[in-house]
Amino acid sequence: MEEDRSASYSMGVQKDRNKVERHMAATAERRVLFVASECAPFAKCGGLGDVVASLPKALRRSGVDVRVVIPLYASIDRAHYALVPEGTCRVRTGAGEVNECEIFRATADGGVPVWFVGHDRFFARNGIYDDHGQAYSDHAFRFGLLCMAAAQVCRDRKWIPDVMHVHDWPTAVLPAMLEAWRNNGRSDGLERTGSVLTIHNQAYQGYSHSSALPYLGLDESFYTPEGFEAYGQLNLLKGGIVFADEVTTVSPTYAKEIRQEPLGCGLSMYLRRRGETFGGILNGADYDVWNPEMDEHIPAAFGAHSLIGKGSCKRALQEEMGLQVDATVPLFGMVTRLAAQKGTGLMRTVLPWVLHEMQVQLAVLGSGDPADEDFFRRLAQEAPGRLAVNIGYSEALSHRIQAGADFFLMPSEFEPCGLSQMYALRYAALPLVHATGGLEDTVAQYNEAEGAGTGFKFYSFTAQAFHDVFGWAVSTWYDRPSHITRMRERAMEERFDWEASAQHYLEVYERVAAKRR
Ligand code: ADP
Ligand code: GLC
Repeated sequence: MEEDRSASYSMGVQKDRNKVERHMAATAERRVLFVASECAPFAKCGGLGDVVASLPKALRRSGVDVRVVIPLYASIDRAHYALVPEGTCRVRTGAGEVNECEIFRATADGGVPVWFVGHDRFFARNGIYDDHGQAYSDHAFRFGLLCMAAAQVCRDRKWIPDVMHVHDWPTAVLPAMLEAWRNNGRSDGLERTGSVLTIHNQAYQGYSHSSALPYLGLDESFYTPEGFEAYGQLNLLKGGIVFADEVTTVSPTYAKEIRQEPLGCGLSMYLRRRGETFGGILNGADYDVWNPEMDEHIPAAFGAHSLIGKGSCKRALQEEMGLQVDATVPLFGMVTRLAAQKGTGLMRTVLPWVLHEMQVQLAVLGSGDPADEDFFRRLAQEAPGRLAVNIGYSEALSHRIQAGADFFLMPSEFEPCGLSQMYALRYAALPLVHATGGLEDTVAQYNEAEGAGTGFKFYSFTAQAFHDVFGWAVSTWYDRPSHITRMRERAMEERFDWEASAQHYLEVYERVAAKRR
């Protein structure tokens, strides 16, 4: 049997195929509500937004009645996305105050219904989590209201989900709210709703002042070291880890890594305690959006059968970004949030060194930490024609970089899953990555003896190791071009389909629904 790389639950899946078939039959009636802070294309800062768009789409194809709730941020263009007003929703907070929220609805790609919760005081702001780097200090209230409103939307419409699926710290409080409502003997159907928390990034935990507890409807029994309390504050992610019926994260390797410190970021003990109710399920890539054979953003189509179009994309990218037009020099691409997680510290040491020593080009698209932005601007001035940088966010350019690059750089210190390297594989931009989390699970190491593999990995997170793997990739480009050709073919044939991952989520929902029945 082929090895299943997509989940650390795979043992269970293979042990009992009949059980899988039975649950597949049952999923026809399953109702699942995603409650999240991002959902592409309406609101996206990173991969979380992609997942909250494409996993529901795949689940819907498997017959699940899945819907999504996100905030109505000021940045969401109502006319463009054809948002339909559905009236208001009265949300009574735990503190007794009644908030009127405006509810809008749209249908996302794949026919997934999305509800938007409008509340000007909390969501009509410039950013999702911060205003130009200044984090908002009232997240527990903002996203707490989102969670309460999501529940009220279900009650008002008598659409009671079997499972509420929450994502990262912003909505991690919802499992505890469900628990509190059950404890209070509330009977509106939601007492039988179970919860799943998916951790997309353990490093962001959502610390808040404990004065938010009454607002969230949580009494002191939730605020203990075994619950939400950490260092005298509310830790929203921790509460989710403790109170959710099941917890997942976005790759099998990251699931192993966060069961230990340091990547557990202080919470590894709570994950270990969960035993079998915590595991990793690999994200998928949305190949409707990321397909070089029909990508409206790129100047020439290409595929595994012919890479001629890729050559045109490389030339066009070099022209667009002001790099020397040269087919023979290896072009490294990068599309990233500029944050320490992404390995910007190593880049600062290694990239000037690489540019000094090696015949390479770099095309960078990114935004984030102002110091990192400055570093790249300066480096571009020092190496004109060889390093080009675009500080900003551009969906279209991100496709053109994937299509034009020969290699894709992702030296992340840690990476829960990573989607960009999956896109890179599909676009024949061989990933150069630190072997961590989902990068370890999705990139196969180059084997110089046989020419096998799909990318280049370094194992110890040091400048020397990053530099050396860079040199290895560059020497392979110049000295073993036939290996590059074969790696490209293999990379383009790799598939990380959402369908496979959605089946693992269905198993999780089934267990949760059985527990709450
Ligand atoms: P993370 O969620 O940690 O940022 P992922 O690799 O999972 O990392 O997802 C990143 C997503 O965000 C990808 O879809 C990538 O193309 C996109 N992205 C990141 N930075 C930019 C940018 N500056 N412009 C356009 N897209 C970007
Ligand atoms: C987070 C992680 C990234 C992951 C994404 C989607 O942003 O940093 O690795 O791919 O979530 O799950």
